[in-house]
Amino acid sequence: MSKDIIKKDYKNKIKTLNHFNKKYYEENVSEVTDSEYDSLKKDIINLEKKYKYLNSKNSPSVIVGYKPSKNFKKALHKVPMLSLANAFSENDLLNFEKKILNFLSQNNNLNISYTAEPKIDGISASLSYKSGKLIRGLSRGDGKEGEDITSNLATINDIPKTILSKDFPEEIDIRGEVFIQNSDFENLKEKFANPRNAASGSLRQKNPEDTKKIPLKFIAYTFGYVKGLKVDNQFDFLKKLEEWGFKTNPLNKLISGIKNLIINYNKVEKQRADLNFDIDGIVYKINDFSLQKRLGYVANAPRWAIAHKFSSDKAVSIILDIDIQIGRTGALTPVAKIKPINIGGVLVSNATLHNEDEINRKDIRIGDTVTVERAGDVIPHILSVDIKKRPKKSKKFIFPKNCPSCGSNTIKEFNSITKKEEAVRRCSSEGYTCEKISIEKLKHFVSKEAFNIEGLGKKIVENFWNLKFIQFPHDIFRLNYKKVSNLEGWGNLSAKNLEYSINTKKRISLERFIYSLGIRHIGLENAKIISRHFESFRNFKKLSQTKNYQDLLNIDGMGETQVNSIKNFFSNKTNLEVLNQLEKILQIDDVIAKKEVGLFKDKTFLVTGKLNGVSRAEIKSLIEENAGTTVSSVSKKLNFLVIGDKP
Ligand code: IVH
Repeated sequence: MSKDIIKKDYKNKIKTLNHFNKKYYEENVSEVTDSEYDSLKKDIINLEKKYKYLNSKNSPSVIVGYKPSKNFKKALHKVPMLSLANAFSENDLLNFEKKILNFLSQNNNLNISYTAEPKIDGISASLSYKSGKLIRGLSRGDGKEGEDITSNLATINDIPKTILSKDFPEEIDIRGEVFIQNSDFENLKEKFANPRNAASGSLRQKNPEDTKKIPLKFIAYTFGYVKGLKVDNQFDFLKKLEEWGFKTNPLNKLISGIKNLIINYNKVEKQRADLNFDIDGIVYKINDFSLQKRLGYVANAPRWAIAHKFSSDKAVSIILDIDIQIGRTGALTPVAKIKPINIGGVLVSNATLHNEDEINRKDIRIGDTVTVERAGDVIPHILSVDIKKRPKKSKKFIFPKNCPSCGSNTIKEFNSITKKEEAVRRCSSEGYTCEKISIEKLKHFVSKEAFNIEGLGKKIVENFWNLKFIQFPHDIFRLNYKKVSNLEGWGNLSAKNLEYSINTKKRISLERFIYSLGIRHIGLENAKIISRHFESFRNFKKLSQTKNYQDLLNIDGMGETQVNSIKNFFSNKTNLEVLNQLEKILQIDDVIAKKEVGLFKDKTFLVTGKLNGVSRAEIKSLIEENAGTTVSSVSKKLNFLVIGDKP
């Protein structure tokens, strides 16, 4: 395709997308389905990735959404919407109370009562009522000025539009949280990362009819500007809210003493998994309004309130089921499906159970109440089981003795180095005969460090497998693009793009090729060592005839485990067939001959022992990059001996 045609195609696509945007956001008309819209957007972004010269200020990669804030008028809050200071420990709470007592010039002899209100993780809003009528609803905005989202808020059933109670203040701004229940979020999962995003997105729809479609809830907890309020403490105010027709948090409590706040905190943290809404801590407010008034504010937070946050990397949940996932090397990994819980802002619904031994050691069962940890980017895992909460009828989890994918026996291998049975149970079938293993092998084959085929991600591999488009690695290079282009969400251009990206990867280095075969225990580093040893694909493949596996043990960096694994690989007929087929399609480059010029020319090195902070393989490649030679035994010709620990 010529550059001009590509540019024209790109510009047209952007024009179409922006037309859909305008229709949707300004006129609330959907001219295409969501998936057609998404695929158009994806096409544009793929084009930009492929042809670096394409760019446009109207591209979806530049514009996020459709200028949402312009949709709403701004308005000032009569009384600013403040934020809260955070506490993470009992100590933080003791300090909080100490400061209060100091401020009030009291020496610990004032027994302060607090309301303890579970802090819902949603979007706060302020509702202005005048003479019992809802006249305006604002978002928090920057705390001083919010967006006028009255019509959207008015779609929420929990928000009373008229309040007839006699003691309802003449004028009042009722404040609370808009949120989505976890059960309702189930249906919105595809579109939003978590219930909070879903609530925020729905509240900001241009058209209230769109907001109405989403089951938003509202819980009230405080007020801003008020005229004619006849209540003198927060707990009574919460009760009044109910009488007036608002929903309040059913777990609100009136408590005095920090010790008792902690007892309540621990109790609520355990209840968290059973709640139908996300909470991320507990808000404590001094109950007495006159004390609140005396204490006043610091910066943009009140002195009389604090948010006691839950740990941001741990939470309690319930195991709904235990799934067994099968990896590329046949390893069976148990995964706990847990009741979704927000840990540090991320909705977690899976936790790894590592392996069979781990399940047995911790006696983890379906139905158990467990503490889940999610630290950094590590996969969430189970820290402990609360045995007291175990259902009476619960049964020990029996790990499957057969592969759930292909039914083959599962085995635990004996590790000749540790002289112990391995903790991991594996499917005993050989590679491509097990469906799940095959899919994982294909995913590995196209992955970044292997063939690095752009546009052929994990989901597409799974889809193509299910459609029987691909079964073995070589099938990838023989895809029927006509069929691909007819799939939902595809089209001529996306199929062409995929064809292009697959075809450019037909040439590959021997080292990457060996790595992409996914031979167990042969990672990037070993693949490099092996490719250097064999130098060409032909030599590598010959191993299946010569069966000189023992020779491989002489290669530095290769141990018995790796050699056995290579032997296993070559003794499998399907693997040999895959090699034959790939040989026909690919151009596998020989290892480039040794460097001829460099600092170490004509010098030999022997590297032995454990080196600190650098692998032997890396040292060797440094030597070779500089034209040196590494040898594996001492001889007269040896120039340098590099010795690490325990040579
Ligand atoms: S009172 C001055 N009460 O927490 C008092 N806030 O970090 C400020 N929140 O923006 C608000 N539950 O979105 C209060 N029971 C509750 C709350 C609550 C949740 C949120 C609210 C606010 C944030 C403060």
